[in-house]
Amino acid sequence: MERREVSFRIQRYNPQVDQTPFYDNFKIAVEKGITILRVLNHIKEQLEPRLTFRAFCQAGICGSCAVRVNGISKLACTTQVWDELTGGGDDPILIEPLSNLPVIRDLLVDIDPVIEKLRQNQGWVVPSIPEEKMGFKEHAVSDDEFEVINAATDCILCGSCYSECSMMGVNPRYISPPVLLKTFRMNNDTRDTDGDERLRRVTADHGLWDCTHCYRCVEHCTKNIPIMDGIHRLREEAFERGMTGSEGARHAQAFFDDTRNTGRLREVTLPLRTKGVTGSFGMLPLALKMALKGRTPPLFVHRIAGIERIREIYRKLEK
Ligand code: FES
Repeated sequence: MERREVSFRIQRYNPQVDQTPFYDNFKIAVEKGITILRVLNHIKEQLEPRLTFRAFCQAGICGSCAVRVNGISKLACTTQVWDELTGGGDDPILIEPLSNLPVIRDLLVDIDPVIEKLRQNQGWVVPSIPEEKMGFKEHAVSDDEFEVINAATDCILCGSCYSECSMMGVNPRYISPPVLLKTFRMNNDTRDTDGDERLRRVTADHGLWDCTHCYRCVEHCTKNIPIMDGIHRLREEAFERGMTGSEGARHAQAFFDDTRNTGRLREVTLPLRTKGVTGSFGMLPLALKMALKGRTPPLFVHRIAGIERIREIYRKLEK
């Protein structure tokens, strides 16, 4: 069995006594095939009993062991030490808590903000059966119906997408990828009856339209769930259900109209069409700065050559 000495650099922090986080280094002999979680367990049992982290199933099912390994959020129990070796195996493997969540201690984060957002946005099925009749009649979901939500049901709420989301870093009130994924999953469950209300909640401020399409949630989902597909579908659903009054919906509509009409974005009027007259006043200082630097977008936008091909794509999409 291949075996080597590996260095681990682990973030430590006890908010009750430490001013700031710091790092502890451990060098231990590791066999090929060992996971990051086994290493953490070894350190806790043999070297540093105060090291704090969370783990239960040890099989990639419960989602509790997510940490950042070499800067990327992953499940400690399914991440192989060997896959994380860099610099010919000489560089220490960096282990830190998830980002965008409060640290309780060391690698243990408080997952309550995610749960609270799920609660606020009805992350559960609201069935049509009255409560007193529940449990007496089966409400089967067909294979075809389940296929629509199949991937989304794999979510184990590990928090990795929450940690990797670029919007969460700048706006902690943002609804977050796992909550949007749950919304998609519940709204497309054939037993659910409250899609309108759920969608109304997630299209409010700091919601569905604030996603920046960075795709980091998809890239780092520990279950390979196409989270962005769900977010795109929710946006389509918002238009289908006539929920087009928000800034985000107007912004999307403006992009849609411009690219269909000319193939280019009319940036000059974009704030006006998105935020309205009053809302655009706040952007005047920025507009002035841009004008002073000669960065004002063109007043008139000409159609691009080949606009017919773009319109053809739109016609196909609309069908
Ligand atoms: Fe359950 Fe890692 S311990 S997913």
